[in-house]
Amino acid sequence: MSDETQNNAPVDDADRRGFLKIAAAGALGAAYAGMVGYPVYRYLASPIEKAAAEGAVKEVVLDHGLDTPKNSALMFQFGQKPAMLIHHEDGSWTALSAVCTHLGCTAGYDAAKKIIYCPCHGGQYDPHSGANLGGPPPKPLAEYKVRVDGGKVVVSRA
Ligand code: FES
Repeated sequence: MSDETQNNAPVDDADRRGFLKIAAAGALGAAYAGMVGYPVYRYLASPIEKAAAEGAVKEVVLDHGLDTPKNSALMFQFGQKPAMLIHHEDGSWTALSAVCTHLGCTAGYDAAKKIIYCPCHGGQYDPHSGANLGGPPPKPLAEYKVRVDGGKVVVSRA
C-alpha cells in the first residue's frame, strides 16, 4: 500500500506541474487577449457608441441664443457634433450642422460674404438652407428646426 502511494506521488507532482503550466498559460493568454482585444473592442465600438449617443440627443436649448446679433452665428454642440445657429439680417433663424459634408471639418459662418465656409478645402454653403454652393462638399449641411420658447432658442432634429 505504501509502495503504491510512493509510486503515485511522482505522478501526482507531474500532474500538478502540468496543471499549473496550463493554468499559467491560460491566464497569460487571457491577459494577452485582454490587452489586445480591449483596444480593438474600443476602436470598433466607439463609432457605434457615438452614433447611439448622437441619436439620443433630440434637442438643444440655447439659453442665450436670442443674444446672437443679426448677421452672425452662434456655434454650439448638438450632441457631440458642432452646429451653428445663424441669426439672419431679416431676423430669421437657421440652425445647421457645422460638420462639412466633404471630409468632416468644422465649417463656420462668414458674415462678410454671408455664406457658410469650410476652411479645409474652401467648401461653401447657403446659410439659409445649408445647400452646398461651391467647392468639394457633395451634400448640403444637415438642417435643424429652430423655435423660440420662453426666451430661449430650442434647436431640434428636423
Ligand atoms: S472638409 Fe470641408 S471642404 Fe473639405
